[in-house]
Amino acid sequence: MIHDFDFNLITDPLLSWYSGHARVLPWRESVTPYRVWVSEIMLQQTRVEAVKPYFERFMAALPTIKDLAECREDRLLKLWEGLGYYNRVRNLQSAAREIMEKYGGQLPADYKKLLSLKGIGHYTAGAVSSIAFGIPMPAVDGNVLRVIMRVCADDSDIAKQSVKTEVEHTLQQIMPADRAADFNQALMELGATVCLPNGEPKCGECPWHSFCEARKQNLWSQLPRKTKAGPRRIEKRTVLLIRDGEKIVLHKRPGRGLLAGMYEFPNPEGHMSQEEALQEVRRMHLHPLQISRLTDARHIFSHVEWHMTGYMIRVDSLTREESGMLFVDIGDARASYPIPSAFAAYTKYLTALEKKF
Ligand code: ADE
Ligand code: SF4
Repeated sequence: MIHDFDFNLITDPLLSWYSGHARVLPWRESVTPYRVWVSEIMLQQTRVEAVKPYFERFMAALPTIKDLAECREDRLLKLWEGLGYYNRVRNLQSAAREIMEKYGGQLPADYKKLLSLKGIGHYTAGAVSSIAFGIPMPAVDGNVLRVIMRVCADDSDIAKQSVKTEVEHTLQQIMPADRAADFNQALMELGATVCLPNGEPKCGECPWHSFCEARKQNLWSQLPRKTKAGPRRIEKRTVLLIRDGEKIVLHKRPGRGLLAGMYEFPNPEGHMSQEEALQEVRRMHLHPLQISRLTDARHIFSHVEWHMTGYMIRVDSLTREESGMLFVDIGDARASYPIPSAFAAYTKYLTALEKKF
């Protein structure tokens, strides 16, 4: 891989370009290890624009690692609600607790120690090391892989760990020891704003324009090469908004697995007819009075897709106790319970109902 390309070419133009093109982002305004860490975790699977408001709110609610370590689970999940991939925030809290115990509440300025913390892989360890502590370690994410494979026109499969590792080694060799933070962020920035993932890269604005092999050979649309993950499993579900007056039924998901510990509307498997949905509600020892059809919706997780259909079902109060189901005030459901955004198409019906009470 990356055989005859001279990587020493890329550094100076990149750093000059970055000094004039760094975006103003909340986590760059005041740089602390904790802020860098939280922002990098949020940015792993979520776009910069979407992360911004979450980041500000999270930092206001949990300004220190101690606050994060001690935060109650429901509140923590609520702060993350909408960002998805909730294991990220669980790992964040596990790591915060370890940092309290082992490192006196301060992130260690040490790549290996960072790497050993829950939820911190090579990318995040590199990003925190370099951005927060100036340690010259690379931080190779999808953006960085793309710009690097393009500039040298390498068609190795970036899904392979060996390819990522080789890019890390290559970057480690050339990164200026005293500019680690700028170097890594400049690479990310180039990938995010110029050498774009979808659609044509803005080669005319690129600091590597004169020597980029992908541009010279017109190969950008084929690079980087990445083998596809297997197809997602499709799960059909029927989402039940079970309502009694101003109350709605929520169910807490188990502590492990997909969306662990979050609250959901009951969502049995399969696409049910009205009659089947009514049967299901009766099995919960509830007495349905009225049913109406709700919208269909889809949600895509990394390995599963939910194809949902839904019903609003009004039930009689009489058997509430007997059912053992959790009935919560419709206003509270949205305000206080972490309900994953997979259910967004259905939580929006709660807003309409809230207005009635
Ligand atoms: N994407 C991932 N990390 C980032 C950062 N620090 N700045 C901008 N975009 C990013
Ligand atoms: Fe990407 Fe074009 Fe720059 Fe090459 S010249 S790195 S393809 S934006």
